[in-house]
Amino acid sequence: MSKPRRHDGQLRFGLMWPNTQSHNVTSRVVADANPDILDVANHLELARTVEETGLDYVFFADSYTVNSPASAAAGHGEPRIFAPIWAAAVIGATKHIGVVTTLHTRYLSPVLIARIGANLDVLSGGRWGWNIVPGSKAAESALFGFDNLEHDRRYEYGAETLTAVKALWRAGREPIEFTGEHVRLSGALCGPTPVQRPNPVIFNPGVSPAGLDLIASECDFGFSAVVDDWSKVRSAVDRVTAKAAEFGRAPSSVGLVGSIGVVIGQSMADAEERLEWFRSVVDIEAARGFANFFLANSKTYRGLFEGQDYEQLVRRIGVGAGSTVLCGTAEEVAEQFVELNKATGMSNFLLLPMTFDSAEIAGYGRMLPHLQRAGVWTPPSQRGWSW
Ligand SMILES: Cc1cc2nc3c(=O)[nH]c(=O)nc-3n(C[C@H](O)[C@H](O)[C@H](O)COP(=O)(O)O)c2cc1C
Repeated sequence: MSKPRRHDGQLRFGLMWPNTQSHNVTSRVVADANPDILDVANHLELARTVEETGLDYVFFADSYTVNSPASAAAGHGEPRIFAPIWAAAVIGATKHIGVVTTLHTRYLSPVLIARIGANLDVLSGGRWGWNIVPGSKAAESALFGFDNLEHDRRYEYGAETLTAVKALWRAGREPIEFTGEHVRLSGALCGPTPVQRPNPVIFNPGVSPAGLDLIASECDFGFSAVVDDWSKVRSAVDRVTAKAAEFGRAPSSVGLVGSIGVVIGQSMADAEERLEWFRSVVDIEAARGFANFFLANSKTYRGLFEGQDYEQLVRRIGVGAGSTVLCGTAEEVAEQFVELNKATGMSNFLLLPMTFDSAEIAGYGRMLPHLQRAGVWTPPSQRGWSW
């Protein structure tokens, strides 16, 4: 079933799809407790659980290299499943949820991106989304044999690739001539063409000035981390809205998605104790690898965590990549989402599960009735499964 875009102000929740043995906690202990990441049965079960729970979409991050040997030892990024391949399995197991996959503009030709995307969009009946990432890791560039571009050049390259991919999608099976600074295409790409017209939904993570320009001019969603200082979240939401207006777009047509952790317990004390436990089993060297990747490559991350003590930040990034983690009973967490929405204007959240067994994910469903009573959430089956 195709997924229209609606801007109704209601909260929507996505799930950061587990793509490695321990995705959101850099910890061997958590990695060993999780279901086997390479067993497709676990992905199919999780996919059905997500849909039954009432989450709106899932999101596959991706990377081609490991951040550090310690990360690999902790099961963080080694092995890491390739987003578009495993997304196809999730699509096959579901009917309504959106499935967003990361595809790097620096490493894949626009023709390949257009073809992978069109096929996933058709396979899903119009539920696929593309998370554009420019490709910012030096080790990845070296692996592909490319020069590592400077930050804003990567975005230029990404923007041009996006224009070319959109041109291929719009052309259908008609030939195009595209001559950019980095990209040259000539001819027609065979079908299928995407179900979503004129193009599938597009995300871009990173709200640095260059990232913001790309989001506001060409994307449907920006994506950043929710941090404890909510004024930074409010500011990012406002910057996206203002920039969209500068590009002549309706402010509601571009949203900012916030990644956020949630730990639900029988009581606040129980949830806090669980969160403390996750923090206590973090492998610090693996977290350092993750922190160094983000701090070296992302102006967004540098801005979010400016002025914080590096060692404390490493510990924070070991759990939920430094995002805020909401804690409490299902009702208390729902109340915190209501407050967060009021204070920041953010209405779309990407949940970062600490573990990924289906019971943990189904547990998110317990907060949804509270949000519904508060008038900020409607089951997607009632409002229509929309982006
Ligand atoms: C929340 C978030 C998620 C990201 N996910 C990925 C990813 O899956 N793969 C990747 O290569 N880069 C990822 N990145 C890196 C961005 O694509 C981008 O290269 C980086 O943030 C630099 O841009 P910035 O300076 O605008 O933040 C992510 C960044 C953020 C902020």
